[in-house]
Amino acid sequence: MSLRTAGSVLGVFVWSVAVVLGQNGWSVTYTTQSICVLKGSTVELTCSYSYPSGKVTTTLWFTEWGTGVEPKDLGQDPEYKGRLVYHGDKKKDCNLKIRDLREKDSATYKFRFITDQTEGKYYGDPGVTLSVTGTVTFYILVILESLCYRYSNILYTGDPGVTLSVTALQVKVTYSSWKKSVTITCITTCTLTDNPTYIWYKNGQNVQGVSSPMYSISSEDADSYFCAVKGHKDLSSPTVYKPKTSVSVSPSGGIVEGSSVTLTCSSDANPPVQSYTWWYKKNGGDNQSMTGPQHVFNQIQSSDTGEYYCVSQNEMGTDRSRTINMDVKYDPRNTSVSVSPSGEIVEGSSVTLTCSSDANPPVDKYTWYKKNVTSPKASGQRYSITNIISEDRGEYYCEAENKYGRLNSSSVSVDVQYGPKKTSVSVSPSGEIVEGSSYKL
Ligand SMILES: *[C@@H]1O[C@H](CO)[C@@H](O)[C@H](O)[C@H]1NC(C)=O
Ligand SMILES: *[C@@H]1O[C@H](CO)[C@@H](O)[C@H](O)[C@H]1NC(C)=O
Ligand SMILES: *[C@@H]1O[C@H](CO)[C@@H](O)[C@H](O)[C@H]1NC(C)=O
Repeated sequence: MSLRTAGSVLGVFVWSVAVVLGQNGWSVTYTTQSICVLKGSTVELTCSYSYPSGKVTTTLWFTEWGTGVEPKDLGQDPEYKGRLVYHGDKKKDCNLKIRDLREKDSATYKFRFITDQTEGKYYGDPGVTLSVTGTVTFYILVILESLCYRYSNILYTGDPGVTLSVTALQVKVTYSSWKKSVTITCITTCTLTDNPTYIWYKNGQNVQGVSSPMYSISSEDADSYFCAVKGHKDLSSPTVYKPKTSVSVSPSGGIVEGSSVTLTCSSDANPPVQSYTWWYKKNGGDNQSMTGPQHVFNQIQSSDTGEYYCVSQNEMGTDRSRTINMDVKYDPRNTSVSVSPSGEIVEGSSVTLTCSSDANPPVDKYTWYKKNVTSPKASGQRYSITNIISEDRGEYYCEAENKYGRLNSSSVSVDVQYGPKKTSVSVSPSGEIVEGSSYKL
């Protein structure tokens, strides 16, 4: 006999054993072998079993064998506590109902039962060894099968079981830039066994006339949507909507130059925000400054002063936050003194010194000093000296102060000329007078 022939004989044989085993009276039948259901719903695994004779002593459903001799009975599993209803009649019905399904319940469920039959009784069952005659090979294998059966004649596990997949409804959002439209699709991780009708809700209201899992809306739609299947509004998907954006500044008090300031953009959005963009207003236009949920100024400068806002985006659309006015405070800088009138100051006339300084908030206190004079001469942004005399000659400077600091100007020199009564002669050009050159008196 060629090897090939032997193989085919064996094939036929295995097939016939399967039939013989089936006829043997031991079986578990599941109406549906694969079920996909919604999270939160109730499923019934319909099942029946048979055995040759005797009484059933134990029945159990399990998903994992575990390490023990016997599999773990779901009825004892705390995860399933209060959610299992087993209608088994210990004769032939093994239906199992599981309520309030969770995604973790996805598994292959198998039914197992034990009878009070002894191995001896089952071993004597005629159907196995003698009903079909065949080759020597056949005979040996039948014996092996019989040995197995000696073990299993009181225990039977219904393989391959029922594969249960528990899924939740999700909304997938797809944005088409060329159509400027958004397609929302109600999706599940497995195809729902009962082939349901889909229902859409817009702002909580049922959308009439839409029964497919796909629904097209325009982009920048401010409405919120969720889907459900007919008869199960309670098992609906999460709601999808475009972002609702807000912005905050930290620290919340005044912003002082040189300090660290963080602007944070937060958004309530589903699907989650894809991008955050920061903008600031300058010269009447809006300029993009940064991306990301935070805008950090490690050492903020007065030049960072301005109005800022952020824009967050998801597939449903974009939303702009309110505007934050960033007013960077700083102490006085560039303090300087100007003299009016400029030029020569004659005894008896008046002169006004003006102190100016760049500060935010503006300078609220000015103090005037004269060099080599310890006490201040005056206060106020302007210092007027009327009817000036030669003793007023000297170097003057001012101090500018706001709540963040003070700064002195450099000094200006005030020189007082004698009045018109006293005549003076000036020579021009000054210096050595060379013979032959011209000069004026
Ligand atoms: C003020 O001072 C800064 C340096 O502290 C200088 O860069 C700036 O040009 C000054 N501004 C004016 C108007 O003088
Ligand atoms: C201030 O006093 C110092 C010495 O006390 C002197 O050298 C200086 O010239 C004086 N300055 C003015 C502007 O009077
Ligand atoms: C400005 O000058 C006055 C008088 O010399 C002094 O008391 C004050 O501390 C100075 N201010 C600063 C900020 O240096």
